[in-house]
Parts: sequence; C-alpha cells; structure tokens
Amino acid sequence: MASPCVELSNKMKMPTLGLGTWQAPPGKVEEVVKFAIDAGYRLFDCAYFYQNENEIGNAIQQKIKEGAVKREDLFIVTKAMEELVDCGLVKAIGISNFNHEQIERILNKPGLKYKPVNNQIECHPYLTQEKLIKYCKSNGISVTAYSPLGSPNRPWAKPGEPVLLDDPEIKEIAVRHHKTPAQVLIRFLIQRDVIVIPKSDKPQRIEENIKVFDFELSKKEMDVILSFNRNWRAVPALQAVNHKDYPFKAEY
Ligand SMILES: NC(=O)c1ccc[n+]([C@@H]2O[C@H](COP(=O)([O-])OP(=O)(O)OC[C@H]3O[C@@H](n4cnc5c(N)ncnc54)[C@H](OP(=O)(O)O)[C@@H]3O)[C@@H](O)[C@H]2O)c1
Repeated sequence: MASPCVELSNKMKMPTLGLGTWQAPPGKVEEVVKFAIDAGYRLFDCAYFYQNENEIGNAIQQKIKEGAVKREDLFIVTKAMEELVDCGLVKAIGISNFNHEQIERILNKPGLKYKPVNNQIECHPYLTQEKLIKYCKSNGISVTAYSPLGSPNRPWAKPGEPVLLDDPEIKEIAVRHHKTPAQVLIRFLIQRDVIVIPKSDKPQRIEENIKVFDFELSKKEMDVILSFNRNWRAVPALQAVNHKDYPFKAEY
C-alpha cells in the first residue's frame, strides 16, 4: 500500500512516510531502494553526506526504466538550494535541524526567494517537539521526523541510554493493536501530521514499517505517548556544539 500524502505550502504533495537512508551501506542500498519502491515507498530521504546517493539514483533509474514507478510519483529529499529551484532541478526547499529562532530569521530575511516548506527534525516519544512543531505548522512549514525509532544503531550510542523500541509501555500499546513497537512509533508521528522516514535495509522491516495505515491510536494512547517526552536526543550533533549556530541550545 502506498503512503498517503500531505500538501506542502507550495501545493506540492509529499508522502507522509518515506525511507531513511543514513547508514544504508552503498553495496546494499540499491537493492533496498528497489525493494522499497515495490513495497510502496515513494519518499526517500538522502544526503551527499550519507555517501550512497549514486546507488540510490541507480535504483530509481532502473525502477523507472522497468515502468514500476514514474519520476513524478517519487519525492526525493536531499540537502539543497535556491539556485537549483531556479534551474528547475529542485521543486521545493526544506530546512533541517532549525530551531524556531533560526526559522524566524530565515522567514524575515530580506529578499527571501523561496519559503522553506518543511523542517526535518529529530522527533519520537522521548523528544516530542510539541512547541517547535506547533511553531512550524503555524508558519505553513510541514515537519519531517528523523530518527523516529530512536536511531538504535547510531554509532555514538552509550550503554544506559534509553532504547525506544524496548520501551515497555510502547510494547504494551503495540500488543493491544497487534502491531510492532516500530509500527506504533511510526503511527504516533503520522497521527500528529508529521512526515516520517524510518530507516531500514531489511526487506521484512521495510514492509513492516509501511503497514501503518490500517490502525489508529486512541486519543488517550496519543496523550500517554506524548507524556514520555524527556527532551532526549539520539542525534545531538555534539561535534557542532561550539558552533555559533548550534541549534539545540534553544528551548525549541
Ligand atoms: N537531517 C538530519 O540531521 C538527520 C539525522 C539523522 C537521520 N536523518 C534521516 O532520518 C532517517 C532515519 O533516522 P535514523 O536512521 O537515525 O534512525 P531510525 O529510523 O530511528 O532507526 C533506524 C534503525 O532502526 C532499525 N529498524 C528499522 N525498522 C525497524 C523495525 N521495524 N524494528 C526494529 N528495528 C528497526 C534499523 O535497522 P536495520 O536497517 O538493520 O533494519 C536501524 O538500525 C535516516 O536514515 C536519515 O535518512 C536525518
């Protein structure tokens, strides 16, 4: 089943669920992306920094050639720029890891050509981002949640840090719905009208992660999960902590 879409402020449609590709190994990611297209994924989150964009491009080209999908049905995210919109190579500009003060600065920038349509930020039950999401939405900026499963495979994970997929209360809710904890975490974001990009390079999990449109968390369950917030970041980008624009010191 293909994922439904949300309409961005520039009227473009963006799928609510996509595949993350950070740490998807170059030797494997080509097959992974082809599999995901067949499984119904139409949004792919990429970055030059992930060192696998060539292979992802090959997979997409092959699937288009095969007639499995049309280019206009795919939404490819990479990290990009105003001139590329002018050239017609990019259809929409988003931002990532911007706090509300930084967004405010962009929106008030004299001569701003293209308003960002999306802010990609870390978001999951331990970092619910309620204020930032509210701020973005009130400014017509949709939100994509990265690390929606708590990024269990992040290379800097330390013993004793919380493991979202093992949270007993998430597990309990999953059992109640005959779903997996990952599906509950993804659904939690979709019901908040947040676009979500779980990463997997395992066919079984890629299929599992898109089967989230056939159940609904109750208002009570949503409130319970929201109450798990502890402002914990899986991706604190500590290498940039002394940069003047380090975004995670602001409250939101
Ligand atoms: N803009 C930014 O600064 C930024 C930062 C971080 C991430 N991102 C983007 O967001 C994407 C997702 O975030 P992420 O990769 O940090 O973490 P994530 O999606 O929260 O977690 C991915 C991890 O969970 C495992 N997994 C996936 N599905 C699962 C399932 N159903 N059950 C159990 N485990 C499952 C994956 O393992 P397997 O692959 O082995 O299945 C992988 O180790 C990235 O890939 C990237 O595209 C952007």
